[in-house]
Amino acid sequence: MQRIALLLGIATALGLILMGFVVIVFLIIYPDVGPARDLNINTTPSRIARGNYLANHVTACIDCHSSRDWNLISAPAIHDTEGSGGEVFDEVRGVPGVIYAPNITSWHLGHWTDGEIARAIVSGISRDGTALYPTMPYPLFNSLADEDVQAIVSYLRTLRPLPSEVAERSLHIFDAFEVRTSPLKYLPQVLPDQSDTNLSGAYLSVIAGCKSCHDAPIQSGEALETDFAGGREFLLPTGDKILSTNITPDPSTGIGNWSETEFVERFKSFAEMDTRDLTLSTGDPNTVMPWVAYSGMTKADLKAIYTYLRSLTPVRNLVISRP
Ligand code: HEC
Ligand code: HEC
Repeated sequence: MQRIALLLGIATALGLILMGFVVIVFLIIYPDVGPARDLNINTTPSRIARGNYLANHVTACIDCHSSRDWNLISAPAIHDTEGSGGEVFDEVRGVPGVIYAPNITSWHLGHWTDGEIARAIVSGISRDGTALYPTMPYPLFNSLADEDVQAIVSYLRTLRPLPSEVAERSLHIFDAFEVRTSPLKYLPQVLPDQSDTNLSGAYLSVIAGCKSCHDAPIQSGEALETDFAGGREFLLPTGDKILSTNITPDPSTGIGNWSETEFVERFKSFAEMDTRDLTLSTGDPNTVMPWVAYSGMTKADLKAIYTYLRSLTPVRNLVISRP
């Protein structure tokens, strides 16, 4: 009896040592991204303008990293809080714990190098090496052209420094480990040829998040056909549920019957709305589709996205966005 107890004790101790060893190796290996690049961005007015355009109207940095008005359609950033952070993502919104969009004005990023800011955007690593939770859409920004990364960093440097600090994030223990495997190495890429509408549309649909939000949830073995077919579920801060729609060219369940003008105008219509038009009626659920931010996209870019979407294989998938 005593021998069995002794053996069990030894086995448990060895098991614990082995587990500790695995954990230590895991902590050493991940995140596996490497140091920040040695970037010294030459900030030009055209870079800042491009960064301003992307951050506000395409990659939606400013939507997430500001105070948002959830009483207005698509919860646009509140004027004068641009970049100050504070937006909370918790379990109601599907995060295993609670995380906060940090301040991205120079009040917080002022001491970061260009390379450190770029690495946070495209690889998902904070200045101190912490792996960011992928609510920060670095898996998409990993496809950014290097020129656009530099443009965004240049623009962030021009944001008015707003003093505000967010609380420390807290993730459930298993997720705090798992998140270390999320960061991605970045291979600097060039901008797609702007005269190739289809290629530019494909690029924009990734970096603007259309693809990731409008993908159908993966069901075994059919991941590829579900690109842009909609049906992904989102939880709003109110707990309301909303589903992304099918934006493949299927005529009955997608946008197959939308003309280019209708598509572009749908986005642009939000640019003409004032606060009153954008105010939701009591009880109306909001949307996560960043209509107001995108309404500032150029017609040329919206047309490129439309052209690209129309080149996809139509997928029949009926989605009711507010079930
Ligand atoms: C969907 C919302 C969302 C969007 C869009 C978004 N972010 Fe973030 N971002 C976050 C959240 C949430 C975090 C914090 C993640 C964490 O704590 O793990 C974060 C973290 C960061 C950090 C790291 C700050 C730090 O102190 O570690 C930087 C820098 C950053 N974002 C910049 C950007 C830029 C630039 C863009 C646009 C190209 C952008 N973000 C788009 C939500 C977002
Ligand atoms: C954060 C997630 C999210 C992102 C990013 C996003 N969408 Fe959406 N989109 C939705 C949801 C949810 C709906 C349904 C609710 C609504 O209409 O607002 C929607 C609705 C739409 C509709 C209306 C379809 C209809 O039948 O009325 C179109 C068109 C559309 N999105 C295209 C796009 C394009 C193009 C992009 C990228 C530029 C994009 N979306 C990015 C979530 C998203």
